[in-house]
Amino acid sequence: MVLEPQVDLELETPRLLLRPFTLGDTASLRSLLIDPDVRRWLADGRVLSEADVRKTILRSLKTLTRHGTGAFVIRLRADGAFAGSVGLFPAKLANLGGLELGAAVFPRYWRSGLAAEACRAILDHAFSRVGLGRVLACADAPNFRSLALIASLGFRQIGTTPGVFGAIRWFAVDRP
Ligand SMILES: CC(C)(COP(=O)(O)OP(=O)(O)OC[C@H]1O[C@@H](n2cnc3c(N)ncnc32)[C@H](O)[C@@H]1OP(=O)(O)O)[C@@H](O)C(=O)NCCC(=O)NCCS
Repeated sequence: MVLEPQVDLELETPRLLLRPFTLGDTASLRSLLIDPDVRRWLADGRVLSEADVRKTILRSLKTLTRHGTGAFVIRLRADGAFAGSVGLFPAKLANLGGLELGAAVFPRYWRSGLAAEACRAILDHAFSRVGLGRVLACADAPNFRSLALIASLGFRQIGTTPGVFGAIRWFAVDRP
């Protein structure tokens, strides 16, 4: 049996609509990922090509097929604007495995609680519908915005690994 990714999945929050990325979102996702304030942290400053972004979306679709979750488009309910990306990805921490939470929103939306609202919906879905027992997260030590977001979501630190900006701090949160 060939399993298909569940691309019609939709998560709702008071201000946001979340749905899985598909290849039709390549240009919008690229516009987010090449924003200088976003790419500094998500791509170590590199300007990703369209082919790189397609690969990212294909990886997300694979995760959606395997785990029932992946990377989601964040849209504002008020005007349908594309505000960012949020979701779960296979963790880059070799000996731990599991899925890692990631989020990025355009700088014009920072500090409005949108990222936290989107992350809570992803965590709620992961624990109550997907059945995960634990979710990981990580941030470069100088990325204080990401660290503040991770702390506000109730993650606890579990270790550090070396990274481009010094240490990468790793966190975990367990199913409530
Ligand atoms: C990290 C990022 C998603 C945070 O987005 P955001 O919209 O500012 O986050 P929110 O407004 O939802 O804030 C979440 C929490 O972090 C806190 N926070 C956010 N920015 C902060 C700042 N500059 N200083 C102190 N606290 C901050 C908020 O107060 C909130 O905590 P609270 O609920 O306890 O008040 C955003 O900065 C971003 O897209 N950065 C670039 C990509 C990136 O680094 N992603 C993280 C790697 S996974």
